[in-house]
Amino acid sequence: MLHCRGVFTCFFMQNWILVPLGTGKDRDGGELGFLCLLDVCPEGFCFMAPPGGEVFSFFMKLGFVGAGVVGTALGALFKKNGYSIVGYYSRTLKSAREAAGFTGTDYFEDVADVFAHAEIVFLTTNDDAIGPVARQIAEDGLVNDKHIVIHCSGSLNLSVLAPVKEQGAGILAIHPLQSCASVEQAVAHLPGSVFSIEGEASVRPLGRRLVKDLGGQYFFIDSERKALYHAAAVVASNYLVTLVGLSKRMMVKAGMPEEQVYQALYPLINGTLSNIRKLDIPGALTGPIARGDVSTVADHVKTMRELLPQELPLFVELGCSTVPLAKEKGSLSGDKASRIYKLLSDGRRSGHENITQRV
Ligand SMILES: NC(=O)c1ccc[n+]([C@@H]2O[C@H](COP(=O)([O-])OP(=O)(O)OC[C@H]3O[C@@H](n4cnc5c(N)ncnc54)[C@H](OP(=O)(O)O)[C@@H]3O)[C@@H](O)[C@H]2O)c1
Repeated sequence: MLHCRGVFTCFFMQNWILVPLGTGKDRDGGELGFLCLLDVCPEGFCFMAPPGGEVFSFFMKLGFVGAGVVGTALGALFKKNGYSIVGYYSRTLKSAREAAGFTGTDYFEDVADVFAHAEIVFLTTNDDAIGPVARQIAEDGLVNDKHIVIHCSGSLNLSVLAPVKEQGAGILAIHPLQSCASVEQAVAHLPGSVFSIEGEASVRPLGRRLVKDLGGQYFFIDSERKALYHAAAVVASNYLVTLVGLSKRMMVKAGMPEEQVYQALYPLINGTLSNIRKLDIPGALTGPIARGDVSTVADHVKTMRELLPQELPLFVELGCSTVPLAKEKGSLSGDKASRIYKLLSDGRRSGHENITQRV
């Protein structure tokens, strides 16, 4: 039965008794343990949780290797939601101490202590370190079949945890589709975020439970599609920053005082986001391409070529990708679409010449 061994060990020590009632299948085809949790208190057996349902991850102990933004925020959120967090190990003692201080948990000087005390261990190091750390803990014999090891990377798939799987551990990847710039922001924004869960059917219920307990939504992702999924997140988050940066440079060149730029752009961006929410894509598309204003698009390309030639390639490339959206919306005729596309494509060629000259 799923994870029973770890849970049993844990709760026997703490005077809990976990009664396995049987097994079944969840809606994703994963094996599910039907359990009943009893507290051996002086008054006798006290029924603590309904039988059936998902794995009692809630009663398993969590530990973290990698005390950065995401590890610290997850620890704080899990603890707030009643989980038992044993504490943090990190590359530096300073980070482990800070995370322990923030979450009101412990820190460890030796990574072995995390695996000695926790059944669920999050490897929340930066992506480059996940593989080496997984190899090292497997080589050092720290991990075994009582452990579930989880990473939170959106770009790496589960194969990076193969060394710990070979030692019998369960493995999961749980990636929050969120930009976590600071611990405080992550604590505020992770609940309500969508998480991708990558794992075999037997551990999926645990992933689902963890995400639900964080207040998140989830979907299951295939390993082969993980890179595309992460690239999509890069477009929505990182490239949005790139786009706002481009717009800012254009506004300043147009004469807007720099300190006023964000004040001007935020309402525009927020209004657009709200339109996307309400009207979806392409319904939310407005502007000269959606309206078929050929001469306005021509003016834009001309002024970009004259005043900001180095920005022209990105500008016209985005325009070219906007044309099919406008057609899909139904607001742009085939004839105008062709004329606008030609204007932008010509701009694209001259823009690339500019770039080549600069290089
Ligand atoms: N930040 C985001 O927006 C975001 C969003 C979704 C998912 N994620 C994922 O979450 C994971 C963590 O990201 P993060 O933003 O929290 O990174 P981070 O703030 O840079 O933290 C990474 C932590 O890993 C520790 N570390 C590095 N190498 C280590 C090693 N060999 N052993 C032990 N600890 C080590 C570092 O320790 P020291 O501080 O002690 O040097 C650092 O505290 C990554 O997989 C990332 O892809 C991040």
